[in-house]
Amino acid sequence: MRGKNIIIGICGGIAAYKIPQLVRLLKKRGANVRVALTDGGTRFVSELALATVSGEPVYRKIFPPMDTENMDYTRHITLGEWADALVIAPATANTLAKLTAGLCDDMLSVIFITLRPAKPVLIFPAMDGQMFLSPSVQRNIATLAAQGCTIINPESGELASGLCGLGRMPEPEAILASLEEVLHTTENISPLSGKSVVVTAGPTREKIDGVRFISNYSSGKMGFAVARAAAKRGALVTLITGPVHLDTPPGVKRIDVESAAEMHDAAQKFFRSCSIFIGAAAVADYRPAAPCEGKIKKDAQEMELSLVRNPDILAEFSLQKSSGQLAIGFALEMESDIDNARKKLETKKLDLIAFNFFDHKTAGFEVDTNILTLIENQGTTTELPQLTKESAAERLLDAIEQRCTRT
Ligand code: PMT
Repeated sequence: MRGKNIIIGICGGIAAYKIPQLVRLLKKRGANVRVALTDGGTRFVSELALATVSGEPVYRKIFPPMDTENMDYTRHITLGEWADALVIAPATANTLAKLTAGLCDDMLSVIFITLRPAKPVLIFPAMDGQMFLSPSVQRNIATLAAQGCTIINPESGELASGLCGLGRMPEPEAILASLEEVLHTTENISPLSGKSVVVTAGPTREKIDGVRFISNYSSGKMGFAVARAAAKRGALVTLITGPVHLDTPPGVKRIDVESAAEMHDAAQKFFRSCSIFIGAAAVADYRPAAPCEGKIKKDAQEMELSLVRNPDILAEFSLQKSSGQLAIGFALEMESDIDNARKKLETKKLDLIAFNFFDHKTAGFEVDTNILTLIENQGTTTELPQLTKESAAERLLDAIEQRCTRT
């Protein structure tokens, strides 16, 4: 953090009382800190406390009082230029709505607008859980995330209302850690930055009739971790996902689909334009030949289900990709069947395949960890240890980055 210029925007939430501690932590790390406080924020934390810990005047109103010496009429612009990062904590529903709409009626909202492009903005919404989950707050958060802001969701715990649940702002130490991570990522510009990356994730559902389907145990965790890691490296990520219960990673464009055919149609639109296609989805290889609309009656003792092949989305992309594009696959096999993964790498003409096996506790479907072996078409094989799916995704992206720099 040494020498970094950080602006902290504080809105009117009870968690504002923790921000002087964040300022102190940043100053101890050698950062220069300035604070923009909304009117609501002044109800929860004093200007004097913030000015004392930051050693700087606190910014509130856009217009300086006319009787002040050394009046700076353009400080709203110079602050946006000065900052290396803007942290808004706690961010209230009202300020989120203002930022989404582009309103500028105080220093915080105007700094948000004047901040130079590509400077990180970290937003820590903190409010009552019901407010946070309301459609309008969620819509505003999604808009800000799509603009490239990093949204850190509130934590669960005791709230000022006496209720217990979602809504608490993370502690100052955790805010500092998030800021350090984001600054580290943006400073080490990844070869993936600005590249269009498509990730498929989750299972597909293949209709038998109006109420039944064929599917598998994929939770989407691995694919979502890959999408999150790629977005953190500055890639423009489109995540095409089957039915899962996961939040969209910040900055990622999500397309929800149900069947393999829908996933295929959604993916096909990106075949020409994407730089990297990563297939982490467990796509059903077959679908019922003649699904019916209603509910099949159980009249007969036995019934036969006729299945037909689904399109192989990744293979289709790979076989028509141009020289600058990369096709990356996953292969879920039994632990001893790594050769099957190698075969898939060859027949689908992939650049890299991540072999993983199925183990109830450590790897594959549903669990939070995975054990990947990265097999490249150029001969290198890298065995990774058991890692969280997030870390495994980072290691996979490290390997993809190396491919990008070689090609
Ligand atoms: O979602 P999780 O619970 O976190 O589990 C993660 C995972 C186990 C699903 C994931 O890590 C994984 O291994 N995904 C691939 C599953 C698989 O075995 O795929 P496959 O061997 O059938 O296909 C090989 C590759 O072709 C995959 O990249 C797959 O996405 C792709 N494919 C397969 C069939 C098809 N019709 N279209 C495809 O694109």
